[in-house]
Amino acid sequence: FSSSSAMAAAIKNVTVIGGGLMGSGIAQVAAQTGHQVTIVEVNEGALKKAQDGIEKSLQRVTKKLYKDKPAEGEKFIKETLSRLKTSLDVKEAVKNTDIVIEAVVENLDLKHKLFSSIDSIAPEHTIFASNTSSLSIQDIASVTKRKDRFGGLHFFNPVPVMKLLEVIRIPETSDETYEKMMAWGKALGKTTITCKDTPGFVVNRLLVPLLAESVRMLERGDATARDIDTAMKLGAGYPMGPLELADYVGNDTTKFILDVSRAVASWSKASCLELVLQNVLWFESLWGKKFSYEISASVWDQCPLS
Ligand code: 3HC
Repeated sequence: FSSSSAMAAAIKNVTVIGGGLMGSGIAQVAAQTGHQVTIVEVNEGALKKAQDGIEKSLQRVTKKLYKDKPAEGEKFIKETLSRLKTSLDVKEAVKNTDIVIEAVVENLDLKHKLFSSIDSIAPEHTIFASNTSSLSIQDIASVTKRKDRFGGLHFFNPVPVMKLLEVIRIPETSDETYEKMMAWGKALGKTTITCKDTPGFVVNRLLVPLLAESVRMLERGDATARDIDTAMKLGAGYPMGPLELADYVGNDTTKFILDVSRAVASWSKASCLELVLQNVLWFESLWGKKFSYEISASVWDQCPLS
């Protein structure tokens, strides 16, 4: 515990680049848990939008945490907001920071420009992390000279509510960086899991195909949108139906994750073959030869390398 809290304590000053839904949520949670936070955006309008969103969300969190203690709730809001700064100057914002979390749009060039512009300015010890939901952490880190202090920290929307943090390490990520990221996740009140730098990490890899299939069901006219959502809420215990969730995450973001997962062709030919063989054996045992070959052919068709 003491070594974990020492690791967590190593991160006091936090810079969040991008004040959209995810960036402002990350900034809010970091400020709520006692960190000094700077949010960086490209214009005043975007900063104002981020601040307004944080204030609204903070009211909801406070209502829950300090239900019968309004005075303490007011104090919590005041102190949290006092730890939040905003900036339009990314180079200035990273000069005295322990961790940079990038949460800008999913554009590799933009992320490259951003990280290369701050690599020589941020202190030596500063960890760089990306909240990307679809790009490879290794690709993003490739432009920096601090791959040992680089990793993925993937949060979930709404960040103040969702308890999970996926911590992604690339082969170059040092043990110290990894341990600091894990400890910091816990300091934010999140449950951390570790995943390799693989498309979609754990959650999106499993969740996004479900969202895509719900869209296909709607396109085929199998059921109405309302019934698809109701089915998954009441029949599978999901807090939101898949179509509602795709919209909540952002249909553009959902599509981007899908496109990238396909393009990356994360399945090796060997694993496609293995899956086909497994299917042949499994379906043969269930339904006989002919049907099993049809199913296997369809599995093979879906393999991006087939
Ligand atoms: N900030 C603060 N608190 C919030 C909030 C926010 N933005 N949104 C909801 N809450 C709080 C509410 O105040 C409420 O608190 P209470 O229990 O004290 O009343 C509680 O959360 C529940 O909210 P609601 O009553 O308004 O509505 P729901 O019960 O439907 O919960 C939800 C809302 C938490 C969003 C729930 O529907 C849910 O969990 N949905 C699924 C979300 C999900 O799957 N997220 C992951 C998406 S994938 C992703 O983000 C990865 C990325 O890479 C794409």
